[in-house]
Amino acid sequence: MENENKMEKIVSLCKRRGFVFQGSEIYGGLAGTWDYGPYGSELAHNIKELWWKHFVGDREDNFGITTPTLMPEAVWQASGHLENFTDPLGKEKFNTMFKVKAGALKDETVTAYLRPELAQGMFVNFKNFLDTMRPKLPFGLAQIGRAYRNEIAPRDFLFRVREFDLMEFEYFIREKDWQKYFEMWREEMWKWIELVGIDKTLVHEHEIPDGERAHYSKRTIDFEFDYPFGTRELYGLAYRTDHDLRKHAAASGVDMSYFDEENKEKFIPHVIEPSMGHGRTMLAVLLSAYREDEMNGEKRVYLALKPALAPVKVAVFPLLKNKPQLVEKAREIYQKLKKEFGAVEFDDNGNIGKRYRRQDEIGTPYCVTIDFDTVEKDQMVTVRNRDNGKQERVSENDLTAHLEEKML
Ligand code: GAP
Repeated sequence: MENENKMEKIVSLCKRRGFVFQGSEIYGGLAGTWDYGPYGSELAHNIKELWWKHFVGDREDNFGITTPTLMPEAVWQASGHLENFTDPLGKEKFNTMFKVKAGALKDETVTAYLRPELAQGMFVNFKNFLDTMRPKLPFGLAQIGRAYRNEIAPRDFLFRVREFDLMEFEYFIREKDWQKYFEMWREEMWKWIELVGIDKTLVHEHEIPDGERAHYSKRTIDFEFDYPFGTRELYGLAYRTDHDLRKHAAASGVDMSYFDEENKEKFIPHVIEPSMGHGRTMLAVLLSAYREDEMNGEKRVYLALKPALAPVKVAVFPLLKNKPQLVEKAREIYQKLKKEFGAVEFDDNGNIGKRYRRQDEIGTPYCVTIDFDTVEKDQMVTVRNRDNGKQERVSENDLTAHLEEKML
């Protein structure tokens, strides 16, 4: 498939099927903002849920935290973002943080910034976290949330935007261990890329050379993806040293050191940071899942999404809309499956072929059809597989277990 074309096809599918719309479209749009419709919101949510389960729920060493998008100027002064978070604009440097005023009365207003990264929320809470959870190194603080960057030239759909979700964690370690944990997280990021269904053959590591890294980083590897518009950053992995905690300790006067009970040592931990853009994940997942083939002599488009990510898990159809006994049975099965899988759809519009196509296009892994045999003869339904169109008859009683097993 031609690359140029593929991007247009994804953008058009996203709009046509309610995944993604231009932000504030009826007013001509605001560049670098995108609205997610129902299917886009489901996909977005499923990616976050998978990330959280994989990196927080299933691990003993990562802890979740949630902090505001607004943080005062002092944070960004200390972190170095006021000085360094800039893009070149002619001969000037343009700081890409959004500056805002919090408060109404003149002498009580506070200058704040919408966060361009989540990391500072983890750093300013480091002491709170130590005091309340008493963790042992190594451990991580993970967060999913909004980030804002006043990009000079937002472009390429979800790739470069001004408001996006980040999935990020700061992993605190002893300085001597930094290479070991950098390697560990490098491998873990590859595992995530596979888990979320991004085509690994389109991802490459790029070592960022001296002089080009962010001001806080001593080593950075970008994970780049071959987007149709070029090979560009997908994720970043950085060794942030003790830069942030040390700067915050100095600027706030709060002790940010960790006390190692065993060796009776006090020190400021170092940090490895895996940082994953959520919108870029959506885009890479969609580009990896997009397929065109021919089925029964017709061209079709489908999204080969992992079942865990699919916005709709199962669609239920009565063969005919105007046969009450079919509709009734289909609704009964729909209700049952909805309790089990949540994201289940009922559709009785148009012929069955069209209904299959609609579900293929949004990546629904299985469709269930109720026909006359179901109600009059054998209590069996037809289960149809998205990827190969194969159909099998399954007993109504075994249906939930059958679909659960298939979707593992
Ligand atoms: N805390 C580290 C950090 O913020 P970054 O490389 O500047 O590092 C992290 O950003 C990730 O955020 C990137 O790897 C990318 O996935 C995503 N990202 C950055 N800028 C973006 C933008 N304008 N639009 C969409 N995603 C963006």
